Amino acid sequence: MKTAEVRQRFVDHFVRHGHEVVPGAPLPFDDPNLLFINAGMVQFVPYFTGQLEPPWSRATSVQKCVRTQDIEEVGKTTRHGTFFQMNGNFSFGDYFKEEAIAMAWELATKPIGEGGYGLDGERIWATVYLDDDEAIDIWRRVVGLPSERIVRRGMADNFWSMTVPGPCGPCSELYYDRGAAYGTEGGPAVDEDRYMEFWNLVFMQNERGAGPAKEGYEILGELPRKNIDTGMGLERMATLLQGVDNLYEIDETRPVLDRAAQLAGKRYGGESGPSAAESAPDDVRLRVIADHVRTGLMLVADGVTPSNEGRGYVLRRILRRAVRSARMLGGEFTDGSVLPQLLPVARDAMAPSYPELATDYDRIAMIAYGEEDAFRRTLASGTTILDVAVREAQQDKRPALSGERAFTLHDTYGFPIDLTIEMAAEAGLSVDQEEFRRLMAEQRQRAKADARSKKSGVASTAAYRELREHGPTIFTGYETLETESRVRGIIRKDELIEVAGPGETVEVVLDATSFYAESGGQIADEGTIVVPGSGSETRLRVLDVQRPIKGLIVHRVHVESGELRTGSEAVAQVDPEWRLSARQAHSGTHVVHAALREVLGPSALQSGSYNKPGYLRLDFAWSKSLDERTRTDIEETANRALRRDLPVAVRYMPLSQAREEGALALFGETYDAEVRVVEIGGAWSRELCGGTHVSHSSQVGALAVTGESSVGAGVRRIEAYVGLDAIKFLANERALVSALSDLVKVPPAELPDRIESMITRLRNAERELDRLRAGQVLQQAGPLAQRASDVAGVQLVTELVPAGVAVNDLRALAVNVRDRLEKSRPAAVLLASAADDRLSFVATVNPAGVAAGRSAGDLVKVLAQALGARGGGKADVAQGAGGKPADAQAGFDAVRQALLGAAS
Ligand code: ALA
Repeated sequence: MKTAEVRQRFVDHFVRHGHEVVPGAPLPFDDPNLLFINAGMVQFVPYFTGQLEPPWSRATSVQKCVRTQDIEEVGKTTRHGTFFQMNGNFSFGDYFKEEAIAMAWELATKPIGEGGYGLDGERIWATVYLDDDEAIDIWRRVVGLPSERIVRRGMADNFWSMTVPGPCGPCSELYYDRGAAYGTEGGPAVDEDRYMEFWNLVFMQNERGAGPAKEGYEILGELPRKNIDTGMGLERMATLLQGVDNLYEIDETRPVLDRAAQLAGKRYGGESGPSAAESAPDDVRLRVIADHVRTGLMLVADGVTPSNEGRGYVLRRILRRAVRSARMLGGEFTDGSVLPQLLPVARDAMAPSYPELATDYDRIAMIAYGEEDAFRRTLASGTTILDVAVREAQQDKRPALSGERAFTLHDTYGFPIDLTIEMAAEAGLSVDQEEFRRLMAEQRQRAKADARSKKSGVASTAAYRELREHGPTIFTGYETLETESRVRGIIRKDELIEVAGPGETVEVVLDATSFYAESGGQIADEGTIVVPGSGSETRLRVLDVQRPIKGLIVHRVHVESGELRTGSEAVAQVDPEWRLSARQAHSGTHVVHAALREVLGPSALQSGSYNKPGYLRLDFAWSKSLDERTRTDIEETANRALRRDLPVAVRYMPLSQAREEGALALFGETYDAEVRVVEIGGAWSRELCGGTHVSHSSQVGALAVTGESSVGAGVRRIEAYVGLDAIKFLANERALVSALSDLVKVPPAELPDRIESMITRLRNAERELDRLRAGQVLQQAGPLAQRASDVAGVQLVTELVPAGVAVNDLRALAVNVRDRLEKSRPAAVLLASAADDRLSFVATVNPAGVAAGRSAGDLVKVLAQALGARGGGKADVAQGAGGKPADAQAGFDAVRQALLGAAS
């Protein structure tokens, strides 16, 4: 049975049982605790906790999930995949254990001809949480499962939570016995390869606190209702129904594996033992490729772009691991490209279930292939850095590369650690992995703290949730800039407080507000909140406005005067000037987006934006820099749209209708069932957007594009000023041109030619100067050669030459002096020169010297050590820098002593 059909049968089954079909959420879900969605229930959390009223009491979904904590295990076991799909059925205070168990059993065992999966009920096992006698009773009574196939397990296995505070509960899992070929008898507790878990039924009834991920955390209490959350691993069910060994071999992943094997000239399974655990390294690589190529595809499709932090980093790592695994397989991958060969295969396998993979493929390919190119460049430059590090370690006779080096290679050059380990091993070195891991952990900690503070300003959301229980904050800012309301709560350092006094900075939640909270790229409104009537009027300056949890608007304020009390009246006043400029900037962003697509084509899709009064920037999918003409074209298209005075309209409609009308949505955003659509000139610009806008395009005033740059593989950034700031920007440019034209005394139009010719003349003059200086320096060569003295059979010249000789000239001089000395006998020349009270120095040894075992590199090291400087190089020429000019003679003496010492 094809995976697509496994998916459809699941949905059909639960629709028959009265469930609403809810689309899965995008992978990069907006939750500060999660990088990616990792379970079907994530998008429903507010319904489980009672924070929001669920629109339906029964739902079913197919959810894309990404989990990467076990990335090293991928391909080695049969069960770990970084991307998988979870089919789920959910009850929000409706049915509970009995129906959940009965419905799961029915679908699993119903004959294929009747719409089920046709699994043999005799081979199904169930696990339950330790003391869940109720579940055991249901399994026996309702399903007829014999006691010996019902197993009690502890918290780690049968009590499910998202590993972070939130809803949780005991669970019951279904396992299928794949037979003796897969392992030992005895049930799931004995062998999870033979007994494969395929469905988890969570009886979601508790709320957990912070603490360890899986067991030993505190249970805070009961949820308002008893719920059901289940997850059936789609790939696992497909594995069982397709009679294959593991999830890399089902119809949605196997084609990539086969194509990779073909290109690499390998036979999959050729050398493997019966289970994946005994697989040959090449088989593991092929599975890694099959898994990672698909995961990369799905992440890029959902709007993630490769970068060095957070989600982008996970994607980068996955794509690079895929490319690297392929290169290690060899064959056509040794020099050929990887993703252009494999990504289309993954697309074709997945598109039947996710048609956007095909329609959006140009954009996806641009980003993914761009990352592979970037990786190749990284490999080239990182390899040089690694070579240097290896040589240093060898010279210092250290057995390992420092973890710090490995970390820098990883962090700055994107060099994967396994690559560093492997290449170091080729040079006989190990890597201090402990230090590397420590540095990585520190960095992750920093990134996490950073992400949290960006999101909400604080790490805990308990106080917000308490305030949210009184209903959502009413946002009045589309209609009015001034709103009379009431102070619902004041928060200081995570705690709700009653009163805040002058000079304090606290967070304030009102019942209703005109303040726009930062979102959709538009920054928060500025303004004040005042308490009317109080003798000394209470006045708060609004510093920031955020929506840390759905439906709650939080103002961060500075109390400028008076006292603020929970429950008192308050008037929210947005600064009108600020808001007008913000509206211009946001509408300007939509105009630039539409202009980009008009000029470049529809694949130039926005991936992120930021706008504040007077300024906007927009990131979009595109892999080449824009030439001057294209930029001008975009700017003109945008300004023509402003001049045409297009009406700006806001409409509310169901998400499905917005999509039908072609409204552009941002990847990775989750939208409500009813959405807000902003149009400029009807279909010319139609976007899902919650921002504030002008009412006619002409109100944006003017728009000046100021720059265009790259922000990562396949993503460009365009920046512009709008309104008065655009005019100011152009006026500044004009003043600059006029100043330049005065300075070089030609009319503005002739400036480029004139400046170009000036640069050429300057360059020629510099070259001539270099030549003269080098000649002058070399004039010292004759006299210096005369000064050679014999030290331990070596003709030796040491000299501190006049200050200011560049190191290249110094080297040329040293070589020139060396070549004037007698060639049949060893000769060594050491020269130093000072610049800014710091020495540069060079050593050179002639071929006779090298043959006699002398080395310029050794001499430079002796000198460097005596000077407290650094240096190194080869046997014939070496150089270094550091140390004081006053110590130069002492340094040369040390070299002399070393020569004598070595000779004796
Ligand atoms: N949420 C449960 C899981 O992910 C069903 O296993």
